[in-house]
Amino acid sequence: MNNNNVNFRAFPGGTLRGEARVPGDKSISHRSIMLGSIAEGVTHVKGFLEAEDCLATMNAFRAMGVEIEGPVNGEVVVHGVGLHGLQAPQEPLYLGNSGTSMRLLSGLLSGQSFDAVLTGDASLTRRPMKRVTEPLRQMGAVIKTSPTGTAPLKIRGGGTLEGIHYDMPVASAQVKSCLLLAGLYADGETSVTEPASTRDHTERMLAGFGYPVTRDGQRIGVRSGGTLHAADIDVPSDISSAAFFMVGAAIAENADVTLRHVGVNPTRTGVIDILKLMGADIEVLNPRTVGGEPVADIRIRSSRLKGIQIPEKLVPLAIDEFPVLFVAAACASGETRLSGAEELRVKESDRIQVMADGLQTLGVHAIATPDGMVIQPRQIKGGAVDSHGDHRIAMAFAIAALRASGPIYISDCANVNTSFPSFVSLAKGLGLNINVRAEG
Ligand code: S3P
Repeated sequence: MNNNNVNFRAFPGGTLRGEARVPGDKSISHRSIMLGSIAEGVTHVKGFLEAEDCLATMNAFRAMGVEIEGPVNGEVVVHGVGLHGLQAPQEPLYLGNSGTSMRLLSGLLSGQSFDAVLTGDASLTRRPMKRVTEPLRQMGAVIKTSPTGTAPLKIRGGGTLEGIHYDMPVASAQVKSCLLLAGLYADGETSVTEPASTRDHTERMLAGFGYPVTRDGQRIGVRSGGTLHAADIDVPSDISSAAFFMVGAAIAENADVTLRHVGVNPTRTGVIDILKLMGADIEVLNPRTVGGEPVADIRIRSSRLKGIQIPEKLVPLAIDEFPVLFVAAACASGETRLSGAEELRVKESDRIQVMADGLQTLGVHAIATPDGMVIQPRQIKGGAVDSHGDHRIAMAFAIAALRASGPIYISDCANVNTSFPSFVSLAKGLGLNINVRAEG
C-alpha cells in the first residue's frame, strides 16, 4: 500500500532528448492475467507492466488459485485453469487504486460458482460502480454495494446469468469489458452498443485466445460455451505513459525524443491526433503489428503548439491523456477548449477540478466546466500543487516544469507506482530536472 509522503520537485531548465522505451500497456497487462487465467493452457506474457495496478490483478487471480510465475523483467507465465477452474478466495480481493481490476473482475466474478468481495483504496471505493452493477444485475447477478453504489462489491456466486443486450450510456471500455467477461458465463448472447468507440483490447485478446467475438458497427457481442486457448502475449509500451514525454518534447526547447515500441491501437491514439491538431511535430515510424496489436516508434520534437477546440469524438480515444494535454494547452498560443469529457471527473481523482486548480496555482488561466476545461495559456510559474494521489496528475505537473519559470513542488505522488514506477528515472534520463522526496 502507498504512503502519502512521496513528493516530486521538478525544476525548470531541462529538456527531453534521446530514446526511451516506456513500460508495458496497463490495459493489456491486466487483460493478459485475466484471460490467461481463464484460458486452457499456459500463457507466456512479455512486456508485462510491473506496476501496482496490474500486480493487484495478478494477486487477485493468485488468491483464486491460479499459479502465476513472475513478473521477472516483464515476463509472466500464467497457468490457466479454464473458464470454470477459479477457486473461492479466502479473503476480500484488495484491488488498490485500480478501477480496471474492479470493473472487469465484477463481470468475471458474477459468473462464478463462489462468492467474492472486491475492495480497494480510498479513491477506488469512491468511484462509481453502478455503471457495472446495474447491467450485471439485469443479467441476474447478485451484487451488494455501499448505499451510494460504490465498493466494496459483494458478489454472490452460484446463480445463473442471462445474456442481455445493453446500450451503454457512457463510452467506457471497462463497462464493455465487464459485460463481455460476464457474457462468457451467461446463457445465450451478451452484447453491448458503445455510444463511441473505446479501447478494444478485450475483444482483440479474446479473439487472440480463439474465442469468437462479433462486431457489427458499434455493437459487440459474445456467446457462452466457447473455450479460451492460451496464447503468447507481447505487451507493447503504454501510449498513456508515452504521452507524458510526447507532450514534454513538444513543449520543451530543443527537444527530440523517440519512444520505441509504443502501442498505437487506433482506439488509443487520440493523444497523437490532438497533438497534431495543435501543430506538434510528431512522427509515427515503423508501424508494425505485434501479437494482434499495432505498434510503432514515435518521434516528437519541440513544436509551436496552438490552442484548439478538441473534437469530442477524440475524447474516449485520449481519455487518460487529458492531464498532460492540459499542460500542452497551457503552453500553446491561443485558447484550448475541451467539452464532452465529464468522465474525467470520476477518474482516480476529479481530473478536471484538480488540474484546473493546479494550473491556476501555476498562473495559467484554466477554467473548469462541468464537462471539460477552457485554458488560456500563460507563462507557467513555479509553485506547489497537489496531485490528490492521482498518478497522471503528478506526472503531468512534473512535465509542466519543462516550461515553468520556477520549481514545481508536487505532493502525494506515491501512486505514480500504480502505472509508471520508472517515470522519474526515465524522465531524468531524457533530461527532465526532477527529484523525489519520500518522507515517512
Ligand atoms: C481502461 C478504460 C478506461 C481508462 C482506464 C483503463 C481499460 O476507463 O480510463 O485507465 O483498461 O479498460 P473507462 O472505461 O472508465 O473509460
